[in-house]
Amino acid sequence: MAKMEVKTSLLDDMIGVGDMVLLEPLNEDSFINNLKKRFDHNEVYTYIGSVVISINPYRSLPIYTPEKVEEYRNRNFYELSPHIFALSDEAYRSLRDQDKDQCILITGESGAGKTEASKLVMSYVAAVCGKGAEVNQVKEQLLQSNPVLEAFGNAKTVRNDNSSRFGKYMDIEFDFKGDPLGGVISNYLLEKSRVVKQPRGERNFHIFYQILSGASEEFLCKLKLERDFSRYNYLGLDSARVNGVDDASNFRTVRNAMQIVGFMDHETQSVFEVVAAVLKLGNIEFKPESRANGLDESKIKDKNELKEICELTGIDQSVLERAFSFRTVEAKQEKVSTTLNVAQAYYARDALAKNLYSRLFSWLVTRINESIKAQTKVRKKVMGVLDIYGFEIFENADNSFEQFIINYCNEKLQQIFIELTLKEEQEEYIREGIEWTHIEYFNNAIICDLIENNQTGILAMLDEECLRPGTVTDETFLEKLNQVCATHQHFESRMSKCSRFLNDTSLPHSCFRIQHYAGKVMYQVEGFVDKNNDLLYRDLSQAMWKANHSLIKALFPEGNPAKINLKRPPTAGSQFKASVATLMKNLQTKNPNYIRCIKPNDKKAAHIFNEALVCHQIRYLGLLENVRVRRAGYAFRQPYEPCLERYKMLCKQTWPHWRGPARAGVEVLFNELGIPEEEFSFGRSKIFIRNPRTLFKLEDLRKQRLEDLATLIEKIYRGWKCRTRFLLMKKCQVVIASWYRRYSQQKKYQKIKSSAITVQSYIRGWKARKLLRELKHLKRCNEAATVIAAYWHGTQARRELRRLKDEARNKHAIAVIWAFWLGYKVRREYRKFFRANAGRKIYEFTLQRLMQKYFLEMKNKMPSLSPIDKNWPARPYLFLDSTHKELKRIFHLWRCKKYRDQFTDQQKLIYEEKLEASELFKDKKALYPASVGQPFQGAYLEISENPKYKKLKDAVDEKIIIAEVVNKINRANGKAASRIFLLTKNNVLLADQKSGTIKSEVPLGDVTKVSMSSQNDGFFAVHLKEGSEAASKGDFLLSSDHLIEMATKLYRTTLSQTKQKLNIEISDEFLVQFKQDKVCVKFIQGSQKNGNIPTCKRKNNRLLEVAVP
Ligand SMILES: Nc1ncnc2c1ncn2[C@@H]1O[C@H](COP(=O)(O)OP(=O)(O)O)[C@@H](O)[C@H]1O
Ligand SMILES: [Mg+2]
Repeated sequence: MAKMEVKTSLLDDMIGVGDMVLLEPLNEDSFINNLKKRFDHNEVYTYIGSVVISINPYRSLPIYTPEKVEEYRNRNFYELSPHIFALSDEAYRSLRDQDKDQCILITGESGAGKTEASKLVMSYVAAVCGKGAEVNQVKEQLLQSNPVLEAFGNAKTVRNDNSSRFGKYMDIEFDFKGDPLGGVISNYLLEKSRVVKQPRGERNFHIFYQILSGASEEFLCKLKLERDFSRYNYLGLDSARVNGVDDASNFRTVRNAMQIVGFMDHETQSVFEVVAAVLKLGNIEFKPESRANGLDESKIKDKNELKEICELTGIDQSVLERAFSFRTVEAKQEKVSTTLNVAQAYYARDALAKNLYSRLFSWLVTRINESIKAQTKVRKKVMGVLDIYGFEIFENADNSFEQFIINYCNEKLQQIFIELTLKEEQEEYIREGIEWTHIEYFNNAIICDLIENNQTGILAMLDEECLRPGTVTDETFLEKLNQVCATHQHFESRMSKCSRFLNDTSLPHSCFRIQHYAGKVMYQVEGFVDKNNDLLYRDLSQAMWKANHSLIKALFPEGNPAKINLKRPPTAGSQFKASVATLMKNLQTKNPNYIRCIKPNDKKAAHIFNEALVCHQIRYLGLLENVRVRRAGYAFRQPYEPCLERYKMLCKQTWPHWRGPARAGVEVLFNELGIPEEEFSFGRSKIFIRNPRTLFKLEDLRKQRLEDLATLIEKIYRGWKCRTRFLLMKKCQVVIASWYRRYSQQKKYQKIKSSAITVQSYIRGWKARKLLRELKHLKRCNEAATVIAAYWHGTQARRELRRLKDEARNKHAIAVIWAFWLGYKVRREYRKFFRANAGRKIYEFTLQRLMQKYFLEMKNKMPSLSPIDKNWPARPYLFLDSTHKELKRIFHLWRCKKYRDQFTDQQKLIYEEKLEASELFKDKKALYPASVGQPFQGAYLEISENPKYKKLKDAVDEKIIIAEVVNKINRANGKAASRIFLLTKNNVLLADQKSGTIKSEVPLGDVTKVSMSSQNDGFFAVHLKEGSEAASKGDFLLSSDHLIEMATKLYRTTLSQTKQKLNIEISDEFLVQFKQDKVCVKFIQGSQKNGNIPTCKRKNNRLLEVAVP
């Protein structure tokens, strides 16, 4: 939620005060308390007017996100909480929009966060300035120059794990649109002594450790290096590894950055070769060797390292070896060569290493500049970012030449700060037309003068000493200082005559003390002369120039014998002075923006706020004075528009809207509030408030008023809400009512409508019925009329018909009467002729005519040709009765003949037999009707086919007419036994059914009679001629299913054979001759107990009883 809140002023939600100018009361304690309070609330930035104080949080805070960038983008400086982005935005916008070149001066102690701050500024500018492939490449190159320079120029110190050991000023160049074009980097005074020696707990430059940790084995081998740090004398061992620093991965980052910045592969290679050479130089050791002249001469202990260095750098080994042993001094035409003792040799070695490294570093900067320089010649806008070492004060007089130089630089920066701040303040007053009041402040120009004065300045005197012939030592230099600067207010030494601290034993003899604006610093003079001389023996530089290594050669141009310059090179001090002067000149042309970094503790730890340490920094940075200067005239100023906007609710005339110029509004507002006139002043575009108290009063009033306004707004809002609700409800009510009304009216209307329709329909029905009735009546009338007319017409017609009929009848009657009369007359006349033959003729004619009609009709009524069809038409005339019967008989005979004519011979035979059977048995034997439908097969037994009867077949050679199984009745018990009955042309045979042996054979002539009952049974007796051969055994009493057929065939065969009719007796009682006895066979009606089979029972000797069911 808080994030979403739109801040309109720095004054909103402030922790402490965001701008120290508003601090009340203003003193050191309140200042520190305010910083602490803010620091404890993670507010690391605080303003003094437009200066940003930044306290190193020593932990990453979530306040540098892209969202934050967007938040601060294009917002007014005082609109949001203090932030480095606000300053960056302000600087970038005034560069882009107002065409003012900018510089961002970042100062502070080592580890206070300067380098981080400079990176934040650059990244902010990179984020908000133009986009596009080309622009992005420029940005990327500018940003990637940092890791390269940091690797070579930064080191871990006790104060800072990533301390910049060089000063850096970077000009970023923009085109008129504000898109970055390129940049120029200037470097100042690399702390090269670090290459050969590092204080306790500190490291050499990062790059050495990075190569050894991060390079591949192969690459290390190429550089003739070993991974082990302890192998190298130049690498301080006590903190070779730093917590949270991954040298190996940083190495990859550096190489990647070098590639992005535009280093060619061979350049990178050369750079690392030089680094390796420097590292290996440290391992060259010397040993003394006595010479004949009694002087000590140095010799290289182990030449192996030297050999490798020479291989790596392409230097002739002997040349380098000689350079480490001799020193050649050229004066005018003379050339004097002296040997070096061991100490001198070590000095020469270290000097070479330092020079190699620092020149390499300068070359890197030049090379980067080549890559990042703007490609166009158009006019550029410039934003300079200065990240230079802060004030350095070591305890125990450890401060040496480097600190002196650094502090001088800071002194100059402080001066430019004072000048520019005051100047700007003054300019603003003039711009705004406010009267300028003089402000008392400490001007450090006097200290700058003490150091840089061309005649009496410390640097000038150091140079003088260095150039002076004769023995020059650090002590002589101090003496000189004591003479010249003794009277200077800010200079102190043990020997200075007017030293106020003459008795101050804390000041050692070999030291001098300068009272810098930031505090007193005691410098140890030892090394001043040497360091200022920065001497590299000519032999060494020449040896380097001779190297077969293009980079090293380029680093030592003075080694070229052709360009021998007998003039001494400028001293380090004068070089630095010159470059600082250039820098100052450069900065003065630009609009300054200050970031003053403060280190909260010495432990590099988050959350710790060491008040004493901070207090010290505040003092020497002159921050309180800064506030005072800023407040000297008027503590607070603000353009009229935002001021009116912020406070307009405090006055009725300006609330809620002021129509008119903002300034007039503010005037009205301030008058209304009764603010004393001396408390504020109206500038051209801003209101100036003298005292922070007034501002806070305004703020309090505003807060109070805001509460009232809130209540008011709440009240109005509530009222509005209730009213809207009421109106809404009212509206709803109206809507509901209207809907309801509509609904009820609709219902009513529908009711009326339906009743109207009902009434209407009734009336219509009634009307329709009435009409129908009328129409019906009309129709009926019409119909009645028609009917009446019809009847009438009918009557008329019938009358007419009757009349006509009567007339016709009359006419007919007349005609008949006339005919009768005529007939009568004729008959009377012809009677005598007619009576003789007319009667017979009429009778004959009539008869003939009837006969004709009868036959013609008969022709059409003939029945079918089937002989069994019994139909015959009825007789039409009685007199034709006999004719009709005769005709029927003739027709039947004719159609029978027709039927017979169709038969084949075989069929004929069968029908003859059947006819014979019919003649013999019809109406005589009850069995007969059942036989009519059965065809006569004769040979029921297949004698010839069955092998069983082969013998039988052989015995009978005649044609077999009947072959059938019959039952022979036993006389004794009436039981039946199966026999084969054969009838041939001449004989009747009985044979055993199983064996086929003939039991008896009777010629047909010996058969006299066949007896059988009239009933429905198959018993029959074959009577034999008495006295014949066969009769000896007696008659046969047999029974067969095919009795009718057998009897018929027997009859026919006998007839054809003997020409005698066989006697067939049909009687229910007959006698059968068994041997001697005659037995009577009697047929009676039996029960159906045994099914349909007749049973034969012997009753007594003379009677067999056959029960026929
Ligand atoms: N704004 C910051 N946020 C988080 N950490 C910071 C910030 N500024 C500095 N630091 C920490 O402090 C260390 C020292 O900062 P640096 O900028 O190198 O100091 P200087 O350049 O002043 O010597 C950094 O390595 C980083 O860990
Ligand atoms: Mg730094």
